[in-house]
Amino acid sequence: MHEETITLARSEADGYEIALRRRIQGNFSSDELIINGAFAMDSTRAMSEIVLAEALGPNPGHVLVGGLGLGFTAAHLLEVGATQIDVVELSTPLIEWAQEGLTETLGKVASDPRASLRHGDVATLLAGQPTIPGLFGPWDGICLDIDNGPEYLIHEENARLYTPEGIRAALAHLNPGGKMAIWSQGPSKEFWFDLTSIDENATERLVQVEKSNRRMDYAIYTVNRPEELGV
Ligand SMILES: C[S@@+](CC[C@H](N)C(=O)[O-])C[C@H]1O[C@@H](n2cnc3c(N)ncnc32)[C@H](O)[C@@H]1O
Repeated sequence: MHEETITLARSEADGYEIALRRRIQGNFSSDELIINGAFAMDSTRAMSEIVLAEALGPNPGHVLVGGLGLGFTAAHLLEVGATQIDVVELSTPLIEWAQEGLTETLGKVASDPRASLRHGDVATLLAGQPTIPGLFGPWDGICLDIDNGPEYLIHEENARLYTPEGIRAALAHLNPGGKMAIWSQGPSKEFWFDLTSIDENATERLVQVEKSNRRMDYAIYTVNRPEELGV
């Protein structure tokens, strides 16, 4: 069987190394995202990214998505009828590759009139600094998938987002009744404790995915905006 890996695009702009690769095996092909030399995700096992979007429930309304990745969370939100999605992504080249339609899912997201793709740092935005001109909430929902999880940071600067203060500050960007969903590569006891101390109806859902003959238990957390935020 013919096997080949093609680099579709690669950039080291702003010291942030990011690459899109296509793996071809016979008639089958899949896309991979590499960040700072490490495998971030691929298109064959994107179920948990879709569950992240589903966690906001039907009719998700106006949603903030951080970050873009291969676009699966954003695409699913559009599929289930989000009225508008604001996707905030740290890598400008990745946004450009989406606009060029380098992968089918990224192209679908970028060309949807309900989607706006913005370059920026979602952690800074949610900490309350309006660093992205013209982009502000409140949103009906927030989907966050920017690290490998609260205990497995890709970007150390994102750490504040997962603290109780960071979670409360993020929830302040939601409309009443709004919900935030967070992706993690595994369950985190400390994070779960913090979420349930903010919202007794917070949820933790494990999603099993086979990866290189290993079973991964990814975790999807949801937390609702409490009536009293205390921020
Ligand atoms: C694992 S991918 C997201 C996958 C996405 N849920 C999907 O369905 O394909 C993580 C993305 O978050 C971006 N990112 C990391 N930190 C960020 C931040 N602070 N603000 C915005 N984007 C960030 C990365 O560049 C990357 O594109």
